[in-house]
Amino acid sequence: MSPEGKLISREPVTLLAIETSCDETAAAVVSETGDPVRPWHLRSNIVASQAAIHREWGGVVPELASRQHLRDICGVVEDALAKAGADFNDLGAVAVTQGPGLVGSLLVGVSFAKSLAWTYGIPLIPVHHLAGHIESLVLEHGELPLPAAVLVVSGGHTSLYFITEPGRYSLIGRTRDDAAGEAYDKVAKLLGLGYPGGPVIDKLAKTGNDRAFAFPVPRMTHADRNQREPTAPSGLLPKSMERRVDFSFSGLKTAVARVVAERTSDPRTPMLDPREVADIAASFQRVVVQALLDRTFEAAAWLGVKSLGISGGVSANSRLRADAEARGAKVGLPVFIPPLALSTDNAAMIGAAAMRKLRAGVTADWDLNALASMPL
Ligand code: KG4
Ligand code: ZN
Repeated sequence: MSPEGKLISREPVTLLAIETSCDETAAAVVSETGDPVRPWHLRSNIVASQAAIHREWGGVVPELASRQHLRDICGVVEDALAKAGADFNDLGAVAVTQGPGLVGSLLVGVSFAKSLAWTYGIPLIPVHHLAGHIESLVLEHGELPLPAAVLVVSGGHTSLYFITEPGRYSLIGRTRDDAAGEAYDKVAKLLGLGYPGGPVIDKLAKTGNDRAFAFPVPRMTHADRNQREPTAPSGLLPKSMERRVDFSFSGLKTAVARVVAERTSDPRTPMLDPREVADIAASFQRVVVQALLDRTFEAAAWLGVKSLGISGGVSANSRLRADAEARGAKVGLPVFIPPLALSTDNAAMIGAAAMRKLRAGVTADWDLNALASMPL
């Protein structure tokens, strides 16, 4: 039952989804298909990126982000409806990212979605941002062969999930420090490449020598004492494995910082040579991708999964995509990755995750609040 006791239709539903957790204002229209294998159809997917605004500051400025969401949200929603050939009266529900993210940014989407749901008397569906990244895989490829392992790699998260039934996500590994995307952004800053770092390092890495610098591949071991309990639920992985599936990227970032400091310490050569920058980018990227894939494939083998998914902003990375597919082909494991438009933040994925919740009967009350952090 939704707020005000609105019943959810048994007929295929069309919903509007809104995502404002960080620096993209996004809206999408998603419809149910009635086909259990490919359950959702994406009718429009609009993203207004604020990257140009934050680039000047070298990263996302939360206050500027919230203000820009306010400016953009009406136009983005109107665009999403127009592209879908729909209007507000066609909507059976409104979905919104509740968290995690920047709370001021999230609030813009949550307030907008609430007003819309109230005005049209339709259910409001709260969505976890990472559930969105996971379900972007199903939106694009249809239901994954289960059990599946899904790696979500974004600017805020590097988390590995085990999925045994649709919509239930069990966290088995996560970063102990920086997220992979965060490492990309910080290394890009060190190299003077601007924000966001992922796309520019990805492009530059293609021109560099990925063996020029022997950065260490970060590895967690069972002897690591920074965390008392392993991330994976007890019994899921063998004892020797359960701490190894966590990730760490801050040491790698420090190793890059050290190389940059060494190379620029001579006052006669205070700037990095462009070829050196490309070599550092390529070497850094090789190590990030290897660290992500080693752990993920190792866990996938132990868990005996039937498919592997990789999603989130960093899944747009050309080397990660190519290497994951090559490794999957080698071991006979189907690998699913969203298309680029669904890798980085978007509202289509929020619409997909919302459809699961809608059909599970989960809707929000009018006191729904944005949450900077929340469990999945
Ligand atoms: O999922 P996302 O759009 O936002 C968050 O939920 O954080 O991910 C953004 C992150 C940024 O750190 C960005 O640098 C990274 O994804 N990213 C990439 C690429 N495109 C975006 N990282 C590596 N290679 C890329 N091509
Ligand atoms: Zn994201």
